[in-house]
Amino acid sequence: MTVYTIASGKGGVGKTTFAVNTGAALSELGMRTLVIDCDIGMANLGLVINVDSKKQYSLHEVLAGKADVSEAINRTPYGMDVLLSGISIRGFKQANPEKLREVIGKLIDEYEVILLDSPAGISKESVIPLAVSDEVILITNPELPSITDALKTKLMAEIVGRKVKGTVVNRVMSMKGELAASKIGDLLEVEVLGSIPNDRSVTKAVAFKVPVVVREPGSPAAKRINAIARKLANVETLEDSEKGKKKEKHEFIERLLKAFGMKTKS
Ligand SMILES: Nc1ncnc2c1ncn2[C@@H]1O[C@H](COP(=O)(O)OP(=O)(O)O)[C@@H](O)[C@H]1O
Ligand SMILES: [Mg+2]
Repeated sequence: MTVYTIASGKGGVGKTTFAVNTGAALSELGMRTLVIDCDIGMANLGLVINVDSKKQYSLHEVLAGKADVSEAINRTPYGMDVLLSGISIRGFKQANPEKLREVIGKLIDEYEVILLDSPAGISKESVIPLAVSDEVILITNPELPSITDALKTKLMAEIVGRKVKGTVVNRVMSMKGELAASKIGDLLEVEVLGSIPNDRSVTKAVAFKVPVVVREPGSPAAKRINAIARKLANVETLEDSEKGKKKEKHEFIERLLKAFGMKTKS
């Protein structure tokens, strides 16, 4: 089982959107997947996804030691399961985030992938999901404030001894002057797992509480999210392998031209 923590530092960059959609995409690829709403203070995962029948307990009660994790996991119509956080302030105050590791430990045999949707900021609530992860996925927008916060999150992950898998650049507008995803990868010194365009299909899907990868799989955002999920699941499609071959060919020609002292276009 692999635990990926979806983190950003800054709020509103697309962590919850990415967690829900990647969860659905990984399930579609046949992986037993659970998405946990670790934003225990500002829980909103439950607002963007339908569940089959909402359990009485949430992660709040599980972290307070009042319920077993099995009593709080919800099935969804989209393949993956979700463990939601409650919305009450009282529940938040009673929840002990330090119990998260123990909770995840109980789920090792049940799931192949667990995605932790984490809160913004640097607090106990956001650092614990980093600390209990196998790998961290940084979400950023192509803007300096969110890149700076992603960098802080990366440093935080390193402080707690975790590996950063890479970054996902979300809400790309392809505007003039916008930072390119590759440049953002260089700034953060991590691999770019993919970039997701700013896409109205995402907003529309939220209104129906259905992941965009399910509601509009042909939309630009859904296609990119599916590609990232395939990367996480180590699944290569024919299209991916063709792209890989083309890249290899291009690199070979570049090396050849260089060897003869000739300049290449790039
Ligand atoms: N690729 C996208 N295109 C359009 N809107 C998006 C995209 N990704 C996220 N959003 C919207 O941005 C807002 C914040 O996203 P959310 O996933 O809640 O961020 P976070 O969990 O990081 O706070 C939501 O209204 C969401 O629908
Ligand atoms: Mg969120």
